[in-house]
Amino acid sequence: MKLKVAGENFLERMALLLGIPPVTLMDTHVSFMRARAIMVGTRLGVFDVLTDGALSAADVAARCGTSTIGTTKLLNALAGSGYLTYTDARYELSSVARKWLGRDSPTSMRDKVLFEFIEWSMVEGFEDYVRTGEPLDMHDFASGEQWGLYQRAMRALTGLAAPEIVARTPVPAHATTMLDIGGSHGFISVAMCRKYPALTATVLDLPSAVEQAAPILAREGMGDRVVHWPGNALEDDLGTSAWDFIYVSQLLHHFEARVNRELLRRIARALRPNGVVVVVEMLRPASPHDAGQVGALLDLYFALTSQSGTWSIDEMQGWIADAGLSVDKPIRLRTVPGAAEIIGRKTT
Ligand SMILES: C[S@@+](CC[C@H](N)C(=O)[O-])C[C@H]1O[C@@H](n2cnc3c(N)ncnc32)[C@H](O)[C@@H]1O
Repeated sequence: MKLKVAGENFLERMALLLGIPPVTLMDTHVSFMRARAIMVGTRLGVFDVLTDGALSAADVAARCGTSTIGTTKLLNALAGSGYLTYTDARYELSSVARKWLGRDSPTSMRDKVLFEFIEWSMVEGFEDYVRTGEPLDMHDFASGEQWGLYQRAMRALTGLAAPEIVARTPVPAHATTMLDIGGSHGFISVAMCRKYPALTATVLDLPSAVEQAAPILAREGMGDRVVHWPGNALEDDLGTSAWDFIYVSQLLHHFEARVNRELLRRIARALRPNGVVVVVEMLRPASPHDAGQVGALLDLYFALTSQSGTWSIDEMQGWIADAGLSVDKPIRLRTVPGAAEIIGRKTT
């Protein structure tokens, strides 16, 4: 998948073929204006108030508590961007907006888009990172509100992948105990416990994260079957032969190789015999040629926002093997292009 400049009519398509329009301005100025307009529409509630049907600009402004003039400009920008349609002086959600930003849509990315205001500030650090090689501390959020945006964003993303993860992840048949390290909202634990009636899960995450993630988990009504453990995966005792299944999703890109190797060693000790660990990560492209647009940009993003960037399958399987576990074939996730499950097994 990639973003690409496309002509809106025959003449523009021809001009693009001839290399005439300045595509760089589409890639920069137009891209960031469009992104920001969608983000602002989300934060101001434009997509929420339009979920129930078409409205005039004045009605949208009245419901969002915004100026009519500014709202009209924003609605026009969103219509030009494919997020709204405009008929008889009224604006309506396009099918894209309804699916991905509609209020109550099961696939809503609203919370992820709200977190993008924080990510916007973070990517302003690309230049400093490239100059110095010094990453940001992604988890150095200043407020509970920022932690909340982060946790809700992770939950929105996980909702898309959860059905595939639950269907394809090799949870041992006998499993009764699951540890979800860096599990945040705990939604994968919830989904696993719904599939496996004998399973209970513990979701380990940093205390500031758990404070914000607790209400997200509570909404699922799982009671004692899925509980939070506020702690630190790098410092707390994970136990010995305590867990049948350990799940570690989107955590290892935050740490250096040395730290991940040690964490996998402690995970191996914490697994029961025949237990399974599953690591989910975006994969480090083998070369810029293989990366694709999203993979290459995410590698830069993760390098800026964590201590390491993405990891290759070989690197992650190496840590698992060094921890004394046997390594299964990785599972590439269809719902998260560029991500895979890396699997280790504690054979007896
Ligand atoms: C990118 S999020 C992934 C959340 C979730 N696993 C998912 O896939 O949606 C990384 C999570 O790891 C947590 N985390 C970071 N460092 C941690 C640590 N040392 N111990 C436990 N959790 C940690 C963060 O607070 C955050 O919730």
